[in-house]
Amino acid sequence: MELANVLYEKEGDIAIVTVNRPKALNALNAETLADIEKAMDAAAADPEVKVVILTGAGRAFVAGADITFMQNMKPLEGRAFAMLGQAVFRKIETMEKPVIAAVNGFALGGGCELAMACDFRIASDAAKFGQPEVGLGITPGFGGTQRLPRLVGEGMAKELCYTADTIDANEALRIGLVNHVVPADELMTYVKNVAKRIASKGQLAVRACKKAINEGMQVDIDRAMGIEADIFGILFSTEEQKEGMTAFVEKRKPAFTGK
Ligand code: HXC
Repeated sequence: MELANVLYEKEGDIAIVTVNRPKALNALNAETLADIEKAMDAAAADPEVKVVILTGAGRAFVAGADITFMQNMKPLEGRAFAMLGQAVFRKIETMEKPVIAAVNGFALGGGCELAMACDFRIASDAAKFGQPEVGLGITPGFGGTQRLPRLVGEGMAKELCYTADTIDANEALRIGLVNHVVPADELMTYVKNVAKRIASKGQLAVRACKKAINEGMQVDIDRAMGIEADIFGILFSTEEQKEGMTAFVEKRKPAFTGK
């Protein structure tokens, strides 16, 4: 697939989506958002793909929404641009297959928001995070004011948004914004290994975990337990459940088929 601002590659059952506009530190304009969406659609539609890795080309993950693109927007254009990015990011968050952010460098503004829309984040020790929008006279608009407090708590999210401070990977780890920090030159190997571990499991079950966690986090605990029980029960209609449990009893490795 040829896209102007995104590379789409496959390594076996792993798709690697690379935001590729390095001259602008991968800043997101409407075209780049559309390319990210096309790459995610391709990964979602390809039955071979089990896990998606999202990363950036060059020294940035994504340095934010494209400031030159937004500079002269009118209020309704700003709102529409926010909604465009929100829709693409929500697609990443709710697509069935897991998406891991391999944060290789700057993840600022819309870049931090993009990383937060992924299932989890693994950072290079060169990564930097922040919501610098108030320094431009705007707020985050691709979900940052909503996902950041859900991930790191309200107080920390407010401090990051109000101060526009940039934090390094270790601080991001400390506050729970990323799961792991690894040396820059080992980032992709590390993330691919995590992706391979996920890909070796029952994919219907992996996707069911994503759905249960996503949907359960939106509702009260009693309703969330109901969602979990429903999803758990449905898996007993799958071949993967039969294979997974039979393999355990027979003391062999399961051969999952995705059915
Ligand atoms: C447009 C950008 C950009 C951005 C970097 N560039 N970030 N262009 N939009 N967000 C461009 C620079 O203009 C420059 O282009 C080139 O990329 C390299 O960047 P430099 O600034 O020269 O690099 P450096 O000095 O290393 O500084 C890196 C940086 C800085 C700290 C990341 O670029 C920076 O502060 N960028 C903006 C970060 C930001 O404020 N992001 C939030 C945007 S608002 P030239 O042509 O000069 O070489 C946002 C809102 C989301 O994300 C919600 C929208 C609805």
